Amino acid sequence: MGIQITPSILNADFARLGEEVARIPSADWVHVDVMDNHFVPNLTFGPAMVEALARSTPTPLDAHLMIADVDRHAMTYAEAGCSSVTFHVEAAQAPVRLAREIRSAGARASMALRPATPVEPYEDLLPELDMLLLMTVEPGFGGQKFLDLCLPKIRRARALMAKHGVQTWLQVDGGISLETIERCAEAGADVFVAGSAVYSADDPDAMITELRESAAAAAG
Ligand code: DX5
Ligand code: ZN
Repeated sequence: MGIQITPSILNADFARLGEEVARIPSADWVHVDVMDNHFVPNLTFGPAMVEALARSTPTPLDAHLMIADVDRHAMTYAEAGCSSVTFHVEAAQAPVRLAREIRSAGARASMALRPATPVEPYEDLLPELDMLLLMTVEPGFGGQKFLDLCLPKIRRARALMAKHGVQTWLQVDGGISLETIERCAEAGADVFVAGSAVYSADDPDAMITELRESAAAAAG
């Protein structure tokens, strides 16, 4: 599939979301950060808003669910029109069942790990997943500093995917910018969430191109 850039709208202007998404036509996906004030100390969008957003753009939505009791709520986001649904393993009771449910609804199933959650215990789950998301900040807020301590885990996750012979995408999220994207691509990530880097740029769509080119060069 190659390098993909999935801008996060967390740092966009929430009063003009439709227009904000229209500013990033080169995005491969629109990353939607769903937060419930329980799993993370912040509150953002719910299913009705996500459904309206899905109707407003031809770009597929990549929902990142930072919510508790995700086994109960994840399917709502697949049904709301998200083409990819990511749940946190720390919030899931039955991640295998959940991934299968998401896939059976026709969406891509993805699992996220917080920075302190190791990847090794979940290697046997990789064939059940279309994407693995490794957080490179503690989830909850945009604009945080990239955590370099996550780089070895990106490398280990890529090696586990090779070992299992799976085509699972490897997404990184948090503090991704022109300054950090090369390190992540070099370590093996291929899907890049960028929030503040894209929306603080004078030309968000041009920033997507720059990020894509940097990552592609570093990935070789
Ligand atoms: C953080 C979110 C991220 C965030 C990324 O909890 O999951 O998607 O919006 O924003 P930046 O790129 O500014 O770190
Ligand atoms: Zn996110």
